[in-house]
Amino acid sequence: MSSNSSPNHIAIIMDGNGRWAERRGHPRAIGHEQGVKAIEKLLTAAIERKISVLTLFAFGVENWGRPQEEVTFLMTLFAQTIKDQAEHLLKHNIKLRVIGDLTPVDLDLQKRIREVEDLTANNTALTLVMAFNYSGRWDIVQATIKIAHEVAQGLLEPNDISDKFFAAYLSIADLPEPDLFIRTSGEQRISNFLLWQLAYTELYFTEVLWPDFDEMILDDALRAYSKRQRRYGLTSKQLQEN
Ligand code: IPE
Ligand code: IPE
Ligand code: MG
Repeated sequence: MSSNSSPNHIAIIMDGNGRWAERRGHPRAIGHEQGVKAIEKLLTAAIERKISVLTLFAFGVENWGRPQEEVTFLMTLFAQTIKDQAEHLLKHNIKLRVIGDLTPVDLDLQKRIREVEDLTANNTALTLVMAFNYSGRWDIVQATIKIAHEVAQGLLEPNDISDKFFAAYLSIADLPEPDLFIRTSGEQRISNFLLWQLAYTELYFTEVLWPDFDEMILDDALRAYSKRQRRYGLTSKQLQEN
């Protein structure tokens, strides 16, 4: 059987922070803080394993529905992390990209995000995409709106819109599609993360709660990935013949 080399792009739903804290009798906020520490370790491990893109789901559109206190904590933690991490990203040659609808985000933070993106734009060891106030449906809708404007202006015809053409309007159109998707905490769902982009991604689920995610769990996922056969609709025989 053919085996895959390392994935280029890994997309992760970092789930289970709340349960991690609750099991220890701590407030959920402690779980979110520990979750940030797990991200720091992951960045080093990803670079060592020559992963080129990591897309992490940090806050989803549906998460606004959580108790106000938790939402406020998550907003502050994200802002603080962006502010604190600029130096770390530069030192480790990591490029930051933030995707999602940033309009409800406070203007100072929006500015800081753009500054850190500019500051790290030429870094080459790893591209870190943070999905914040993101939703896969939002991404598809925002692409559709841009295309509809171009049609309305007479810049293109409805029949010009193909699968490839459409994909170019999505948030991470310039990056390769995720090869591997990982979700922690035992939940087996996509929860409105990258919907279009995961069409042919290999899915991997682990019971581990996000704050406990480490390089051993990453290696388990990479091993599982290496044994998958990505057939893209073809037969195994066809792939062996190629
Ligand atoms: C993931 O952990 C972090 C965010 C959604 C921001 P959760 O907070 O969803 O943790 P559980 O699922 O409640 O354990
Ligand atoms: C998905 O996690 C969003 C993030 C990890 C940011 P949730 O824990 O909110 O997902 P559901 O609602 O349980 O599916
Ligand atoms: Mg959760």
